[in-house]
Parts: sequence; structure tokens; C-alpha cells
Amino acid sequence: MAPRDKIKILILDDEKQFTEELSGFFLDSDYESFEANTAAEGKKILINHEIDLLILDVRLPGVNGLDILKEVKTQYSNMEVIIISAHGDMDTVIKAMRLGAFDYLRKPFRYIDIQIAIERTQKYLQLQRRLKQMEERNSLISKNLEEKIDRQFIGVSPQILEVFEQAITAAKYPEANVLITGESGTGKENIARIIHYSSMRKDHVFCAVNSSAISETLLESEFFGHKKGSFTGAINDKMGFFEVCNQGTLFLDEIADMPFNLQAKILRATEEKVITRVGDTNQIHTDFRIISATNHDIESRVEERKFRLDLLHRLNTLHIHIPALRERPEDIKPLLIHFVDVYATRFSKPNIRVSEEVFDLLLKYDFPGNVRELRNMTERAIILCKGNLLGINDFPVKPQKNSTSEEHTESVNLKMNELSLIQKALKRSKYNHQATADALGIHRDALSRKMKKYNLTSKNED
Ligand SMILES: Nc1ncnc2c1ncn2[C@@H]1O[C@H](COP(=O)(O)OP(=O)(O)OP(=O)(O)O)[C@@H](O)[C@H]1O
Ligand SMILES: [Mg+2]
Repeated sequence: MAPRDKIKILILDDEKQFTEELSGFFLDSDYESFEANTAAEGKKILINHEIDLLILDVRLPGVNGLDILKEVKTQYSNMEVIIISAHGDMDTVIKAMRLGAFDYLRKPFRYIDIQIAIERTQKYLQLQRRLKQMEERNSLISKNLEEKIDRQFIGVSPQILEVFEQAITAAKYPEANVLITGESGTGKENIARIIHYSSMRKDHVFCAVNSSAISETLLESEFFGHKKGSFTGAINDKMGFFEVCNQGTLFLDEIADMPFNLQAKILRATEEKVITRVGDTNQIHTDFRIISATNHDIESRVEERKFRLDLLHRLNTLHIHIPALRERPEDIKPLLIHFVDVYATRFSKPNIRVSEEVFDLLLKYDFPGNVRELRNMTERAIILCKGNLLGINDFPVKPQKNSTSEEHTESVNLKMNELSLIQKALKRSKYNHQATADALGIHRDALSRKMKKYNLTSKNED
């Protein structure tokens, strides 16, 4: 609860004069009070208002005040209760305290007594809410610790070394926003974490958000936070991602899917580093860096007017592109060895080796799912393998890459093939031109022209 909030108090007592008097006393205070003289009236108010504190007479006619206490403590976990009892009703007081009442007052009491009791409750409520916010933050931080373990990035190809270089630069400039592009499973989130944990922001939160996984109605409040009561369900003040990531990094995954109407607000927050919670007017400063990622062609989203160009410019101060695994085949072997190591340890199969044929097989595979696919197939292979040697049967992949690359070579290198076919035919016919032309299925004159073109003599030994 922020200190600026007025605490809302419900007074539930069957004595109208008492509730009126107490309400009158609260008029000049920092509290907003509601009165109820029956349990039914009280419940109605509890439903319609976000009551922070209930002042409850445990001796209401026709109902047991303790039952009401039990009910409200289970239904409104954030509300505190001060009970009012009559003199000599110690038994009820003890029961009420055991049921979770925060304090009690004995009738008749002085206003100063209730004032003190309320202030104490208010402090407690504030502490409790602050604690909750800290817990939210802490759970994010401990999750981060776990995720740190999964941040090793393996690769030897020049392309991946270049990505490393760029990540190091990004870590050195903790204010610069970074856009990471690349197909699904290439390691974009991995690189984002590496940047964060190698930067000055490393002791603060790294929060990964996939906005396409959040319902559109909640998006704004998730990013900007909200003030208690600003919409149905907003039962507490809540920090949004921008605030949680103060001094840390906000990782926006699948940025291309960000709803258009939120993009302008994200842009403003990113430019000004000032946000306002939904339903609030207070401006809050927050210092975050955005690393965003996409596996879509974001430029074409801009052309389709689905993504704001100004936001793109804001986000890609530094741009890192991670090439697909098929474009950097040198990385397949070290990655496979790494994953075998990881899963062999995890599944207590320490002596597992990989046969050379597997490396050859995987070099011919396209990996549409990139490193994630390689990781998953290795995990599966290790779980299912019977002996200690992983063979090609443990990796059920179709070597698409080979066939496509051969097709590529054939069509692209038509000239080379023509030359080598003529050479082969010449050799086979012992340089008899007619026989060579016949074998190639062309006219003898055509063969002469081609031999001239390729600088072949009748006795070319190649
Ligand atoms: N170079 C690498 N070294 C080790 N592990 C890697 C590497 N690249 C990716 N991985 C692993 O592959 C998996 C997928 O990576 P990540 O989640 O970072 O991909 P992504 O590009 O964010 O994918 P998507 O676009 O689907 O979200 C993760 O388990 C990650 O640890
Ligand atoms: Mg990802």
C-alpha cells in the first residue's frame, strides 16, 4: 500500500449511534469510513469496496461475530480486523485473536485508543504489502539464479564468435537497447541473458516477457503496473515490468507480436524512463535496458504497418543477428558434445560416447528448429539409448541438407559438370571424337565447339 492511499475502514456494529459517532470522528482523518449496522449491510460494503480494515462488534444480534470474522479472514486475505468486545468477554477476545483478528478494543473506549489501534494496523498493512512486493521481486531474482546456470553458449564458427563480440560490446554499454534476431531456437534468449549477466546491471532483475502470451486486456497493467482499485481485480497496488526491472534488463521476446496500441506507450516509457501506473497520476522514474528479440522479419512488419518504425529505431541501437545452425555447421559437433555431456550427467549415464557417423549424419541435416532441436534430439537419444555408444539409429533425422546441397551444386555448377562429363567421355573413348560425341548424345561439331570453349586438346589427359 503506497503511503498516499486513504485507508478504507468499515465499522460494523448494531448500535447506529456508535457507528455514526465513530464515522464522524474519522471525517477529519486520513481514513475513508463506511458504516453498517447489520451483517448483511456489512457484506454488501465488503463486496463493493476494497476495505482495508474492519472494525467488528463480535456481539451482533442474530449472528455470531466470530463466524463473520472467520468468513472475512478467508475471503479477504488482505484485510485486517479489529474486534470490539464488551467488558468481561475475554473468552471471545481470545478466540477472535486466534482466528486472526489483529487487535481488540473493549467498549467503552476512547477515540485515542481506536486511533492508535488503527495506526498500528495501517503500519502492519503497509509492511505486509511491501513484503509482498519484495517477495515478488525476490522470486524473480532466485529464478534468475537458476537460469544463470543455463547460460553457457557454445560455438566455434566465425559467425558465432562475431555474435560473442557483439554481445560483449552490448554488455559494455548497459544503456543501449539491443535487438536480437534469428530463427527460433538459435539462442536469442541465451545471448540476452549473457549480455545482462556480463553487464553492470547483473545484480538486478532480468525479466523475460513474451507479450503474445499475455491477454491484451492485462498487457498495459503488466508493463506499467496499476493502482489498487483501478479496475476489477486490481486488489493491490502492483509494480509493472518496467518498475520491476529498475536498474536491470527487460527482455521482450517476440517483439514483432506486440499489439500496435501498446507500442506507442512502450516507446514513450523507453524514451523518457518515466512511467505511470494504470489508474494513477504519479510519475515513477525507472532505469531499465530493453533487449528485444524476434524470429520474424520485423522490417516487413513495419512495412505492413503492424510495427512502429520509431519503436524499431529505439530498440535496435545495437543489432545482433544469430545465424541459423545450418549456416554454421562447425558448431554442430561442439554443441552435440556439450549436450551429450549435460544429459549424460543429468540422467546418470556417464560413459556415453558418440559414433563418428552421427556427426556426419547431423552435418547433412537442416535443423529447422536450430540448437533447441539439436538439444532435444540429444536428450531423447540419451534417454532411449541402450548401450554406451550413440549411433545414427539414435538420431532419427532425414539428411535433407545433402540432397538440397547437391541439387544446388548441380544447377549452379552446370558448367563444371559439362566440362567433367566431356573429360570423362573423352577418356573412356580414348579420345575418339565421334565416339565421345555419341556417348554424350551430341553432334561431333558441337563437341568440337565445346572442347574449344573449355580449352581441351584431343590429348587432354585430365
Ligand atoms: N550456442 C548455444 N550453446 C548452448 N546452448 C544453446 C546455444 N544456442 C541455443 N542454446 C540452447 O537452445 C535452446 C533454445 O535457445 P533460446 O531459447 O535462447 O532460443 P531462442 O532463439 O530464444 O528461440 P525462440 O525464438 O523459439 O524463442 C536453449 O535451451 C538454449 O540454452
Ligand atoms: Mg526465445
